[in-house]
Amino acid sequence: MDKPSRPAEPFALHDGVLHAEGVPLPVIARAVGTPAYVYSSAAMRAAARAFSAALAGVPRKRLAFAVKANPNLAVLRLLAAEGYGADIVSGGEMLHALAAGMPAAAIVYSGVGKTRYELAAALDAGIGQFNLELEEEGQMLAALASARGIRAAAVLRVNPDVDAGTHAKISTGRKQNKFGVAWQDAAAIYARLAALDGLDLRGIAIHIGSQLSDLGPLEIAYRRVGTLIATLRAAGHRMDHVDLGGGLGVAYAPADAVPSVAAYGAIVERVTRDWGVTLTFEPGRFIAAAAGVLLTEVTWVKPGATHPFVIVDAAMNDLARPALYDAFHDFASVVPTGGRMTANIAGAVCESGDTFATAREIDCVRAGDLAVFKTVGAYGATMASTYNCRALVPEVLVDGDRFAVVAERVSPEAMLGHQRLPFWMAPVAPRRAA
Ligand code: LLP
Repeated sequence: MDKPSRPAEPFALHDGVLHAEGVPLPVIARAVGTPAYVYSSAAMRAAARAFSAALAGVPRKRLAFAVKANPNLAVLRLLAAEGYGADIVSGGEMLHALAAGMPAAAIVYSGVGKTRYELAAALDAGIGQFNLELEEEGQMLAALASARGIRAAAVLRVNPDVDAGTHAKISTGRKQNKFGVAWQDAAAIYARLAALDGLDLRGIAIHIGSQLSDLGPLEIAYRRVGTLIATLRAAGHRMDHVDLGGGLGVAYAPADAVPSVAAYGAIVERVTRDWGVTLTFEPGRFIAAAAGVLLTEVTWVKPGATHPFVIVDAAMNDLARPALYDAFHDFASVVPTGGRMTANIAGAVCESGDTFATAREIDCVRAGDLAVFKTVGAYGATMASTYNCRALVPEVLVDGDRFAVVAERVSPEAMLGHQRLPFWMAPVAPRRAA
């Protein structure tokens, strides 16, 4: 057998069998069952390094992986070892980042709905930076920090009002979106927040959207930030940290045209050269997406009015992106025969929206075959649910020739164990064996 594991091709055929690095996927399916997410360490590391390398020309920077993309503990640990901190949006994500050994000081806390309790817990944990989404949040944070005799390091998120040109549900930088403070109001709000004792206000943040396939809007947004920096400095404000968010898109289909990370780095360098600040980056998808597949087994191939239905044992509860955003995820057989078929691919959930692909030309598959959905390492497992009382999908990390379960399947039995009957209902009598 030839030796796989080129980082560029983490999932490749060897001897006719799809591998994750050095591990044949059927071995994982036998050991763990399906469906299961499978991540390649090499791919994750390679992307983390490529992102960092593309920004080599930025003199002062901090890399904060967007935990929402993949909060798996092992993934975060791997990225921590690559020098990444975290971008978090909830107390739960804070817990994950800290549990993975990310230093509190390397964590930035974004998010439009941080509660008083989350802010207090983050202050107590020593979180490095708060990205404020509204003036009142800044006031609350300042009061909580003052009560502790400290000053909270914070930046103000501005909404630059640019259309990122991405899917409406993942666009965040238009004025009608809920994120940040209006671009026009930013200077006045900044001045009021900067005057608060409990805040160490040190700059601004933006994030205009995810899966950006055009760097033009990003450059416009960055230039607006540059203007704002100049305005705020002229007003005498401290301005030494700017958070440029995440958003770099990845190719989901071979024909997808997405900007290279090098082009992204070049724009950052060009636009921010004279800013004289520490830049924070919050990449999520770029780091994790290509490093994951969802391994699934074909349950049935069922005749359909126009095309056969390939019913797989993964469903919209395991991978929500196609149902939510009509997202495309490539589908491939684990042991392809060379035959092709045109089919609809669907899961077992009782909704027609539980459809992964319609009239798609795919590898010919039969019931019992293994297959994968590709490019699911970001916004895959993390968006899974237990809809239809289905198990919560497990996650596996591969590293060369070894693999480990890094998130157990949560069984329906375990989920049932969390439920209780109220005191006014009669308990169900234990069933006796016949
Ligand atoms: N920073 C902030 C403030 C964000 O809101 C996000 C993503 C990121 C960073 C990371 O963006 P990335 O580099 O991954 O594009 N569930 C959707 C994506 C939602 C993204 C939300 N915010 C999907 O499956 O496409």
